[in-house]
Amino acid sequence: MYSKTSLIFGNAYPRDKLTNVTPSILSKITRQLYLQQYHPISILRNRIESHFNKFHYFNSFNPIVTTIQNFDELGFPANHPGRSTTDSYYINKSIMLRTHTSAHQCQALQTGAEKFLISADVYRRDEIDTCHYPVFHQMEGVQIFSINKAIEEIAYDMQISTSQQHCHINTDDNTVISITNPIQSCHPIEIANAITSHLKYSLNELVKMLFIDEKNLQVRWVDAYFPFTSPSWEMEIFYQGKWLEVCGCGVITQDILNNAGQSDKIGWAFGLGLERIAMVLFNIPDIRLFWSKDPRFINQFTSNEIIKFKPFSKYPSCIKDLSFWMNNDKEHEFHITNFCEIVRDIAEDLVEDVKLVDDFMHPKTKKRSLCFRINYRSMDRTCTNEEINGIQDKIRKSVAEKLDVTLR
Ligand code: PHE
Repeated sequence: MYSKTSLIFGNAYPRDKLTNVTPSILSKITRQLYLQQYHPISILRNRIESHFNKFHYFNSFNPIVTTIQNFDELGFPANHPGRSTTDSYYINKSIMLRTHTSAHQCQALQTGAEKFLISADVYRRDEIDTCHYPVFHQMEGVQIFSINKAIEEIAYDMQISTSQQHCHINTDDNTVISITNPIQSCHPIEIANAITSHLKYSLNELVKMLFIDEKNLQVRWVDAYFPFTSPSWEMEIFYQGKWLEVCGCGVITQDILNNAGQSDKIGWAFGLGLERIAMVLFNIPDIRLFWSKDPRFINQFTSNEIIKFKPFSKYPSCIKDLSFWMNNDKEHEFHITNFCEIVRDIAEDLVEDVKLVDDFMHPKTKKRSLCFRINYRSMDRTCTNEEINGIQDKIRKSVAEKLDVTLR
């Protein structure tokens, strides 16, 4: 059924059993929303770049990377769940679509840059709803210091900027030494603590700039784990009644710096998700809107201002259920992202969300039955019933064929 190679932007890549990229995913590569003038994602990138105004900006790394860049160089263990084909898009076993901007950390460090931002589109197989889309945008921030000058430079940097402070921030910045989130044994504690303070301070300053209208911004640091930083945190801010995850961050694993020829340096890194921040700052209710070519969306953004999006009326939705029996021996192979991928590949952006609404085991046959509810809605027109029925039919056929299930 498939040819032995995939042709992607003029390059032929051998296919193998890991290949799971689809034409609909590959078609997103050329959009480069983060570089489109006055696109909300690009406006946000610009804001963040101007904030880190002494940094170097990398904005044109290729989204097609090796698994070495995306995982191995960053110290991901061989069995890390992020490597799974249910989570990541593979072109073949050694080439994939980057799942995060950290995939370029090592190459950026090798250029000798000591403070930089990397902006890019990243790709992850995901479930479908108004906040998840298989392509989104991240900004990686990195700053490294000479080990023997770090404490002085950091003290100087933080003193200069705190003197210009204007808005208040509440942050639970009680750096504690923890067994589960340790300082690296090769790092002197005072220096690692200085790097941590500078990281938290830099991110606090960033969110104060972005959420300038919040009088009393609350920030919290949740211990986290990443293979390429230690200690690591997730930064969250309390916004409109909810804790909003802003980014993952931490002190860069020393091996990464050593391998990049920067063994006399120590530093921090963060990875910021742009969509989530843009959705709250611009009041954009559905992540698919970022991809919309509808003039009622695009024409609202005509400068680098952050403005509130004015929703236009939604087109009617159409709900269809799809149920099937799973063949007993294939049950363990089933993953909801495999189902969503089929839906997305056929229906593209016509699907607003997919929910599992029923999951039961037949008491006698011990067969498991699943029912998914697909909510179809176009962002820019009313769909006809025939069109949706046609798509639903195609999805049913493809599900039966690719997932080895029996439709009900
Ligand atoms: N790459 C991580 C992610 O996508 C975020 C991160 C970046 C964490 C840099 C630590 C340092 O989840």
